[in-house]
Amino acid sequence: MDATTLPPDLRVAVVGVGVMGADHVERLATRTKFARVSVVNDFDTAKASRLAGTVPGCRAVEDPFEAITADDVDAVLLASPGRFHAEQVLAALEIGRPVLCEKPLALDPADALQVVRREAEHGSPLVSVGFMRRFDREHEELRASLAAGELGTPLMVHCKHRNASVPGHFDDRMMVYDSAVHEVDSVRYLLGEEIVSASVLKPTPSENAPAGLHDPMLVLFRTASGRVVTDELHLTTSAGYEVRTEVVGSRGSATIGLEVGRLTTQLPGGRWGGSVHADFRPRFRDAYDVQLQRWVDAVRRGEGVDPTSATAWDGYAAAVVCEATARALDTDGAPVPVELATRPPGPSSDHHEEQR
Ligand SMILES: NC(=O)c1ccc[n+]([C@@H]2O[C@H](COP(=O)([O-])OP(=O)(O)OC[C@H]3O[C@@H](n4cnc5c(N)ncnc54)[C@H](O)[C@@H]3O)[C@@H](O)[C@H]2O)c1
Repeated sequence: MDATTLPPDLRVAVVGVGVMGADHVERLATRTKFARVSVVNDFDTAKASRLAGTVPGCRAVEDPFEAITADDVDAVLLASPGRFHAEQVLAALEIGRPVLCEKPLALDPADALQVVRREAEHGSPLVSVGFMRRFDREHEELRASLAAGELGTPLMVHCKHRNASVPGHFDDRMMVYDSAVHEVDSVRYLLGEEIVSASVLKPTPSENAPAGLHDPMLVLFRTASGRVVTDELHLTTSAGYEVRTEVVGSRGSATIGLEVGRLTTQLPGGRWGGSVHADFRPRFRDAYDVQLQRWVDAVRRGEGVDPTSATAWDGYAAAVVCEATARALDTDGAPVPVELATRPPGPSSDHHEEQR
């Protein structure tokens, strides 16, 4: 389709307008071309109404399923809490409507697998999962470098995921399902293979950690070909948001996330320093922008999903790895196997295979 035959602006319903959803509404309303927010919904109806009042042509509705199926909506963006995602994605699939679902696709792997199967029955891909690191320039460059063999054979991956602080109710399972889940997808994306086991080591907790939280935590993954991944989660650093990934290969290593493009300062006494992002929004702002623009462009072309996005299968695989990792919280370092179901055939999985 050329530009003259493309439909008008994509009308998007945003379901859940908390931190991430409000950020996406602002992105769609101000920085995304050929899209607008036509409907918003939130469990907190007053919050949704207030937000709708700031976006021209946008209305708030009280029921998420009314937003998902509304006549003045072409595609759905889900930013509600993860436990609601599967049923909301299924509602969009039911009427053949493209949906970009914030991570996670589901907390329970069985729910994620149901989404994969429904999408396969539908016959063409409609589900994208918001693993935005796939749209981060450094991650894309690292993946291309690995694919070109520049580092030789990748042997190990070292990930670091650090936050300044977490809310007081944060627990060990949330470290897995909210934080480590991003490394699960990054590793599958970078290496193009599945994770087959997970184990967890818990050092002495930091004095900054809320009572009962094992922060920092070291998660170890093994991949199908035998590679080892270390994932250091440290969520109460008091410093800021840092996401670093180093791939060690047989002919060299490469690190991303060093923020070398950001302000660095020479300090008195021969000290050197710089600034660290406060949270994930400024760090991955460009990636979120690119993710949404590519999704809007693909859906307007009638393709349902953008081929570089994480698929429903990727969301399912992440859910299975997180479940194994959560079980490994209680095995005193012993690995827990990751067991994936057989992947249903269908256009979604064909498209996914092309990415690998
Ligand atoms: N990709 C990323 O980097 C990233 C970063 C942060 C959050 N997230 C994901 O985005 C989602 C939202 O996270 P958040 O930080 O914005 O949380 P949040 O708590 O700030 O916002 C969630 C919103 O959803 C509303 N809500 C609750 N139940 C709902 C329902 N059934 N239907 C519709 N709305 C409902 C809440 O009232 C709240 O306003 C989560 O899945 C989270 O994992 C992704």
